Amino acid sequence: MGGKNPHTRVWTYDGGVPGPELRYRQGARLDISFQNDLPDPTTVHWHGLRLPNAMDGVPGLTQPPVMPGGTFNYAFDLPDAGTYWYHPHVKSAEQIARGLYGPLIIEEADPPKVDRDVTWVIDDWRLNDDAQIAEPFGQMHDLSHNGRLGNVATLNGRDSESFPVRAGERIRLRIINAANARIFRLRFDQHKPSVIALDGHPVRPHQPPGGRIILAPGQRADVIIDMDLAPGAVVDVIDDYFERAPFTYLKLVYAKDQPLRNSPLAASTQLIVNPLPALDLANAARHKLVISGGAMGSMAGATFKGEKTAIRDLVRHHGKAWALNGVAAHTMVMDPLFRFQKGRSQVVAIQNDTAWPHPMHLHGHAFKILERNGKPDPIQPWTDTVLLDPEEITIIAFVADNPGKWLFHCHILEHHQAGMACVVEVV
Ligand code: C2O
Ligand code: CU
Repeated sequence: MGGKNPHTRVWTYDGGVPGPELRYRQGARLDISFQNDLPDPTTVHWHGLRLPNAMDGVPGLTQPPVMPGGTFNYAFDLPDAGTYWYHPHVKSAEQIARGLYGPLIIEEADPPKVDRDVTWVIDDWRLNDDAQIAEPFGQMHDLSHNGRLGNVATLNGRDSESFPVRAGERIRLRIINAANARIFRLRFDQHKPSVIALDGHPVRPHQPPGGRIILAPGQRADVIIDMDLAPGAVVDVIDDYFERAPFTYLKLVYAKDQPLRNSPLAASTQLIVNPLPALDLANAARHKLVISGGAMGSMAGATFKGEKTAIRDLVRHHGKAWALNGVAAHTMVMDPLFRFQKGRSQVVAIQNDTAWPHPMHLHGHAFKILERNGKPDPIQPWTDTVLLDPEEITIIAFVADNPGKWLFHCHILEHHQAGMACVVEVV
């Protein structure tokens, strides 16, 4: 990070935060030889992609960790267009907080007409007075409350201040939330952002309630914004997820130049859907996943390493605070909590029995959000990460078509570390 503040020592992919923007055409093949020059083991996880299990980058589950000095070749086809990202999956609460993440953009054959296609990787950092990354990671309070929130927000690795725009232009913003724990709720003042994709997958273009884009850690949104104010306008982009502590994330600064055009582009912004397998809800297998634990929760204990353990001991001796269906996840390798029959549709009701929001992320598949709290979701998007509010029940569905053992976890990385993870197996 640069700008007016001192530089912060970070860990990077290829020397930058974010790492290089990887861009491919839909249907192309990614082939990257990865080398680990860190002092710690790591892996690369390709968040949101439907890929072969062996390429998913989960240590102990899909591959051994890449040791310092080691290499690994990641190679797989890219069936879906959209906005994705990559990050480590070893001690991710530390490694992602140190700056290891980058955007992965897969272009449609025929993208909607826009003047600029712009990627915003949004993050927050917990820095100390010397502008260095605050340690330690994984403090118990963060693990049991809402994760490691930062004190400095960045856009594409820089202390965000302003973003230049031109009157009349249409921008496709690809927003990626790479924060450990911060849920962003962005509003663009007088602008009317239209959401065209969530977590990479197309949705019916729509203006979200209140014009606010809510993105939990791991989530992405593709948003069309027509810059329809006058030349010279300056507008705040505000994050007001915490209503009592809203802050200006950055300013859109209009150039003084003549507008690029006088009325917005008429071109359609509807994207073509990705080739996802069709759901068969009538014959689906049904499951329930209950999230429990955390501060102000009612969880008395959980199964940990096969033994019933009281919450006090989980917290004190094991650094765990959460459970899925009564099991707090321990090491890298876990027994599957669910076995899904390959090719069959699966419906999972996820119940958040805690006082905290949780963005639940499933690897290797896209799922459709059917219902929230008993009501059909108005958009029913295909996503890979669904944000559950406290006490919320959400129903998701997907076709278990990708064989292997996959992680399903909270993307608040401290929650993941503190036990909120499970393995599902497709066989
Ligand atoms: Cu973004 Cu399990 O990961
Ligand atoms: Cu969580």
